[in-house]
Amino acid sequence: MVELSPFTLADAGVVAAWISGPAELANWAGPGFTWPLDDMQLAAYVAEPGRWTWTGVGADGRLVGHASLRLAADGMSARLGRVLVAPDARGQGYGSALLTLVLTFGFARLGLERVELGVFSHNDSAVRLYERLGFRLAKVLPATDQGNGQSSSALEMSLARADWFPETHRVEP
Ligand SMILES: CC(C)(COP(=O)(O)OP(=O)(O)OC[C@H]1O[C@@H](n2cnc3c(N)ncnc32)[C@H](O)[C@@H]1OP(=O)(O)O)[C@@H](O)C(=O)NCCC(=O)NCCS
Repeated sequence: MVELSPFTLADAGVVAAWISGPAELANWAGPGFTWPLDDMQLAAYVAEPGRWTWTGVGADGRLVGHASLRLAADGMSARLGRVLVAPDARGQGYGSALLTLVLTFGFARLGLERVELGVFSHNDSAVRLYERLGFRLAKVLPATDQGNGQSSSALEMSLARADWFPETHRVEP
């Protein structure tokens, strides 16, 4: 079981500790953050207009994940981002459970028509997670330098409200 709690800077140290280096940071956030991740960057991120940020809290109160939605200017779509599960909690369904809650919030509470995201094509576990939730490939972007000397193409994925069936995807860790 996992619950969504608004992300606050009190969680920043725990979340930042889940990222072990610049390559992992780029994998997680693209060019959105620079290494080393610090409270100042996280404070600016939380304060971005239209950005909803959450911490995933496990049944025992342990922080297990993070995700955010950034609303488009027209309020009809949003970008899912910064999806992260604590390293020692991966492979147990927390990612699926956390994103099911985030997407339910986006479609049911915010009334979104579409949720989009970007993911590096080499990030197999993330791509599989998004596909399980119903996201489909919308576009493949040309390979770019990730900032660590490695180049990777990025996938744009999209999930329409009509294709969102949370009861099919719900996973209880
Ligand atoms: C990508 C990421 C968020 C996935 O989180 P996760 O909690 O491991 O996701 P899940 O547990 O829901 O799914 C992972 C695997 O566990 C399996 N699983 C799901 N529920 C399970 C359960 N209850 N018991 C055991 N295994 C389970 C899934 O089938 C899946 O297998 P697969 O990858 O072979 O398809 C996580 O690996 C991560 O934080 N990566 C680093 C940051 C990152 O890359 N973020 C994405 C940026 S776009």
